[in-house]
Amino acid sequence: MHPITRIAAVCIGAALSRSALCAQATPAAARTPRAGLDVPSWAFPLPAPAPAAALDSVTLLHVPRSSQAFTAVQVRNQFAIPDWHPDTHPAMPPIVAHGRKPTVIACGFCHLPNGVGRPENATLAGLPAAYIVQQVADIKSRARQSAWEGPFRPMELMRAIADSSTDADIAAAARYFSRIRPHQRARVVEARDIPRPIPALGLYFPAESGSVEPLGQRLIEMPVEPERHEMRDAEVEYVAYVPPGSIARGRALAITVTRTAPKPCASCHGPQLRGVGLVPPIAGRSPSYILRQLLAFKTGRRAAPASAPMRDVAATLSLDDMIAAAAYAGSRKP
Ligand code: HEC
Ligand code: HEC
Repeated sequence: MHPITRIAAVCIGAALSRSALCAQATPAAARTPRAGLDVPSWAFPLPAPAPAAALDSVTLLHVPRSSQAFTAVQVRNQFAIPDWHPDTHPAMPPIVAHGRKPTVIACGFCHLPNGVGRPENATLAGLPAAYIVQQVADIKSRARQSAWEGPFRPMELMRAIADSSTDADIAAAARYFSRIRPHQRARVVEARDIPRPIPALGLYFPAESGSVEPLGQRLIEMPVEPERHEMRDAEVEYVAYVPPGSIARGRALAITVTRTAPKPCASCHGPQLRGVGLVPPIAGRSPSYILRQLLAFKTGRRAAPASAPMRDVAATLSLDDMIAAAAYAGSRKP
């Protein structure tokens, strides 16, 4: 079976579909963006439907540079998460490793044991603890929502977790993740043509056939090794494809003071974009995550009082500017 079909089949067919992580996909074109606002559907990819397949509970899987081994069933256990690289992070508090049944999926299942996250969620490693606590509270109060008003399962699941976790859970998770140093996961590549992207659970997989298509004015992030992504290996690498010229254009937005843009990103996020106080770091984070957040500020869907400065900034940015800013920030070392 084609690896992508196998991954999607596993997802649609078994454990993950029960968690609704792989809820029935809707073709991107069929989803309608918020009236009057330019929210591109390609920034919120959902998987194509695939045939069901049973999960293997016998064969042990391996990833490079790890002596651990897990079956496909264990890899998808949301309440005892696979930890491929236990030597790269401190001991996880219970909420990160096991969550709280039945609704609070372990934070580390999605954000990974060391908090580096995946493109469809967020890097938590190295965020200020108070910022983590505030964001979960904002998601719970609905002050923070996704720019995309149609279905986007990753955000819906985070919302369910914010709704049902306790303050003590979130405080423990925030303390834990804030102490870990993040590392960069995506290489930012300027390109005209890219491997044909197949939507898959909030990001894209490269088509196996080797076929290519024009990137156009999009930002498309995909894992270099889709199977390792699905195995939740925190060391798998991603490529974020951006239009030619994006990084230089983003650099100008990030650091250059002009009459029309008196506050470049660095004036608040710090000269290296590594964050200042409660202004979070953006250097080296997933470019597609950064873009989705800029869209959320621009559409007013991140409506918390603390987001006001970002709403003002995003109001001045076009979609191409946002792609460029995400490309530049994502290309910097965290
Ligand atoms: C099912 C997957 C999933 C699980 C489990 C999960 N999250 Fe999330 N989380 C997400 C997604 C998706 C986002 C991105 C939301 C968006 O796009 O705005 C997110 C975003 C966040 C953010 C915002 C980060 C930022 O940079 O602003 C915080 C903080 C967070 N999660 C904390 C937690 C904590 C704490 C737990 C465990 C109690 C947890 N999450 C469990 C999926 C998950
Ligand atoms: C005037 C200060 C200011 C400027 C200028 C600014 N930011 Fe921000 N940014 C913030 C604050 C404050 C937050 C936290 C918002 C919140 O708490 O909801 C933030 C949050 C963000 C986030 C969300 C991070 C996360 O963890 O979810 C992104 C992405 C971001 N900024 C990108 C940028 C980019 C790109 C630029 C330049 C084009 C920029 N910012 C310029 C103040 C600023």
